[in-house]
Amino acid sequence: MDSPEITPEIRAAAEAIGSCKHAVALVGAGLSAESGIPTYRGAGGIWTKFGEPTIDGWDLFRRDPEQWWRDVLDRKSRRSEFSTAIESAAPHAGHLALAELERMGRLKHIITQNIDNLHQRAGSLAVTEIHGNRTKGRCLSCGLRVPLEEISLDRLPPLCGKCGGIMKNDTVMFGEPIPFDALRHCHAEAEVADVFLVIGTSAVVYPAADFPVIAARRGATLIEINPERTPLTGMANIVIRGPAGESLQCIVDLLSG
Ligand code: APR
Ligand code: ZN
Repeated sequence: MDSPEITPEIRAAAEAIGSCKHAVALVGAGLSAESGIPTYRGAGGIWTKFGEPTIDGWDLFRRDPEQWWRDVLDRKSRRSEFSTAIESAAPHAGHLALAELERMGRLKHIITQNIDNLHQRAGSLAVTEIHGNRTKGRCLSCGLRVPLEEISLDRLPPLCGKCGGIMKNDTVMFGEPIPFDALRHCHAEAEVADVFLVIGTSAVVYPAADFPVIAARRGATLIEINPERTPLTGMANIVIRGPAGESLQCIVDLLSG
């Protein structure tokens, strides 16, 4: 197999990351697409195929959290294409490259929109999951997050072991506010980043798509890795039109010399 082409853009990205103080990455479904998890929009996206979920998911939960949990547990037996794909997925070269960049001290933080837990499985430590993590539950009162398998379902809705608040799965639903701790982390990173990578996201969902803009307006170098244009392309200093896995691996190879 030919080694992937080291384009001038990939070389420029490696130089920028190699000489910066604080690189941050915003990641979207396009990164996990190479692990076999469908994206949301564009060709083959699950929203494109099945339509976007209704916006009232959060309202339904708040109105009757017991019924919401009954429905979730009932649906559990009917595997969707998405949940089957996400359960059999494994981190690929792109996830591993980001973890390696962190170990090299080059990448300081990942803001991921993905709920698939693949960054952690690849060894990344500094990760903010702005849309939550599908393997965890979260207390709506104190914000405690615990692995789903540790939540007792003897009574519904399940209650938090720390404060007695109502537990929900950690995935952020349409209409649900982003948990404050995650939002605070994202803003803090956007305020200090001098290089901001935007990897595999259509950059149309907010507030996630705000953070590269906040950083770019402060003078950070914006690097977009995506086979397609996005609303951020015009603002990007370096644009890599290729698959994330290969491109990130090349960057690591260049930086490891
Ligand atoms: N490498 C890099 N980018 C890729 C790849 C790849 N191999 N394959 C696809 N892409 C790009 C597409 O061109 C597209 O721009 O990934 C992007 C995926 O966009 P979306 O499907 O819109 O996913 P994302 O941006 O993560 O969605 C944001 O929307 O529906 C909500 O909560 C959901 O977190 C999600 C959020
Ligand atoms: Zn609690």
